[in-house]
Amino acid sequence: MKKKITVPEIMATKNSDKKVSMVACYDFMSATLVNLSKVDMILVGDSLGMNMLGMNGTVGVTVDDMIYHIKNVVKGAPETFVVGDMPFGAYNGNIDKAVENATRVFAEGGCDCVKMEGGMNTVPYIEAVVKAGIPVMGHIGLTPQTSAMMGGFKVQGKSNEAALHLLETAKAVEAAGAFLINLEGMPSGVAKKITETLKIPTMGIGAGPHCDSQDLVWPDIMGINDWVPKFAKKYADLRTVIVDALDTFADEVNTGAFPTPEYSYNTKVEGFDED
Ligand code: KIV
Repeated sequence: MKKKITVPEIMATKNSDKKVSMVACYDFMSATLVNLSKVDMILVGDSLGMNMLGMNGTVGVTVDDMIYHIKNVVKGAPETFVVGDMPFGAYNGNIDKAVENATRVFAEGGCDCVKMEGGMNTVPYIEAVVKAGIPVMGHIGLTPQTSAMMGGFKVQGKSNEAALHLLETAKAVEAAGAFLINLEGMPSGVAKKITETLKIPTMGIGAGPHCDSQDLVWPDIMGINDWVPKFAKKYADLRTVIVDALDTFADEVNTGAFPTPEYSYNTKVEGFDED
């Protein structure tokens, strides 16, 4: 049985041979499968807005939605470190609100840390939540919660000036007390420089091979959606496998091929003969 990795162990992976892996998943069933695997961490990400709730972004996801999904994942993955995502609006403009909502996500959800997405504006909230005793993972670069400001889900840090700003933001997130930082959607060279500069580990999604660790999203790894982003590797083609299984079930129901006696309770009941 695997042993849950801890915050100090995650921090100690910096400059070591160990690369931590994390999968974003959102429900009990997928969490039980991640728990059986070698994957170290689960992120209950607000990408559940798109992948579980059919939204076209993450902005509509609430703190209550997050807590509901985090609780179910935690039940399914007792040996896996679980990160609970702070959704859009959970701390906007108010330090007390940030601490209150992070406390709810951490304590009611039962996760092992929270993830706080955003650039320089988010730094004071990170600092307050860390001071409240909650471990924080930062998240900079392509930040889907502010995709409207970015003009869509766009790779960030593509000019020298923008890359320098990302580097300064990463340093500020570290100084605020984050123990780990997610780098999403940025050129590999920018993620490399950030990784070399920070003392805390970086985790990359769409940020190239130089990060200290890597994360991907369950539906992308499993090939469930009909589209995957350029950076995501499909490790399975479950969309085809699942639809084929459903088609076969429907065909067998239609032809009467299912259920055969082996799938039936065949106890003879007086007065209720089958033939
Ligand atoms: O919500 C999410 O799944 C995320 C990852 C893309 C890092 O934030």
